[in-house]
Amino acid sequence: MEHLFHKLWENGESDFYPCHMPGHKRRACGQLPEVLAKLDITEIDGFDNLHQPEGILYELQKKAALLYGADESFYLVNGSTAGILSAVSCVLPMGGHILMGRNCHRSAYHAAYLRDLEISFLYPQVCGEYDIFDGVTAGEVQDALDREPDVGAVLIVSPTYEGRISDIQAIARAVHDRGIPLIVDEAHGAHLGLAEGLAPNSCQAGADLVIHSVHKTLPALTQTALLHVKGSLIHRDYLKRFLHIYQTSSPSYLLMASIDNALSYVEKEGKWAFERFQKRFMLMQERLSACRRLRILPADPQRQDVGKLVISVKGTYLNKAPLNGKDLYDILREKYHLQPEMAAGSYVLAMFTVGDSEEGYSRMEQALLEIDSRLWRQSGAEDSDLFLYGLQGTGHGTLSLKTAWEMETESVDISESVGRYAGEFVNLYPPGVPVLVPGELIAEDTCSNLRRCLERGLTVQGLEIQNGRIKVKVLRNCSDRSQIRGSTPECV
Ligand SMILES: Cc1ncc(COP(=O)(O)O)c(C=O)c1O
Repeated sequence: MEHLFHKLWENGESDFYPCHMPGHKRRACGQLPEVLAKLDITEIDGFDNLHQPEGILYELQKKAALLYGADESFYLVNGSTAGILSAVSCVLPMGGHILMGRNCHRSAYHAAYLRDLEISFLYPQVCGEYDIFDGVTAGEVQDALDREPDVGAVLIVSPTYEGRISDIQAIARAVHDRGIPLIVDEAHGAHLGLAEGLAPNSCQAGADLVIHSVHKTLPALTQTALLHVKGSLIHRDYLKRFLHIYQTSSPSYLLMASIDNALSYVEKEGKWAFERFQKRFMLMQERLSACRRLRILPADPQRQDVGKLVISVKGTYLNKAPLNGKDLYDILREKYHLQPEMAAGSYVLAMFTVGDSEEGYSRMEQALLEIDSRLWRQSGAEDSDLFLYGLQGTGHGTLSLKTAWEMETESVDISESVGRYAGEFVNLYPPGVPVLVPGELIAEDTCSNLRRCLERGLTVQGLEIQNGRIKVKVLRNCSDRSQIRGSTPECV
């Protein structure tokens, strides 16, 4: 089958003059290199149309479905974000009721806002030693569905940002027993199920809608993603309707060619590439097991994704001062020129994929072993960061996200926000998982935790700093001083 990049090259070299968009007319301009301009086209003859695919894009999407074991797959050009918005929107009517992980990405909350959904939360367990959310279990989903029998769809994240994998097969059974669909935000798992040794992907495990960021774990350009659908619970026309709404009408062919290229690479070279990748990652883990102070979360193909290196600094000291995740992140960047994926309060996350070179692994190994030799550990000095993904968020109380996000807000000093309702999302970035959701009651712990995040230099979105004071948006004239979860707010 013809590759999209090949077709784009051919077109770029042809004598067809582009009397059409884009405005660069396939020529270099300023800092825009000719090589990019040459390949960047819009829907012209012979290149099909993403919103009504009948030619090459139809074939490529079919190929993607076959690779992942889906019934149908869709190319996404504005990330998993577009897939999550479309998936959540199509499974429920306006005002429907969704059960979703509290650790979902902001795009899931945005979908709930747009569709005015009632949200019931699943609070995943925490891997205490590492301060990260674990996957969810079928039992937890079942219990939640017993408590909320009118839920119409379930959305969970697996693998999580840090690589925790849930048993999707068992969860899908529990969800299907109620006759409702399961959406899996598998943004971090586009590589799953593609080679021996990797956990199955969620299409293979029985989910109805699965979203993959191709750009996160496969060799593809940023923004590339896929949405897969399987089974008979999803209304395909609704799904397509929402894809038309949330995806641009001018999809980038560079991005789509990059998806095709990544999947073709998997087909052609995936077997040895994933084998080599898994072996090398596991070797790095083995070498790093020599660390005496830093703790490395062990990979486990079925529970902890290969490729996510979680390095915990809990309880470690450097030059007599406690070391936090941001400190380690800064040392890796500044001294070793290694750019990690993210820093959290007590750990650093570094990502590895089939795209890595030997240099990346060996530099990370050397850096961490060297840093470890300079640290010391004090038992009992564990610095807990369980707050990082909003664990201490109080849940929604009685306000729906849509109601809350459209109410008038005011900015107050964070110390005065306790017992008030959040008026804006607050999250660490990355990973974009809300610590506070509009309409959620603000607790004392959440405030002190957010203060600590800022003190540690972590990027917190949704707060304002004015004259050195931390301000947070809260709903105007609406408070509940009793701070009881679910209690009726007093709104005047
Ligand atoms: C769990 C999860 N889901 C969805 C997204 C959104 O993905 P994208 O950036 O491809 O839109 C992210 C982004 O980091 C994520 O971590």
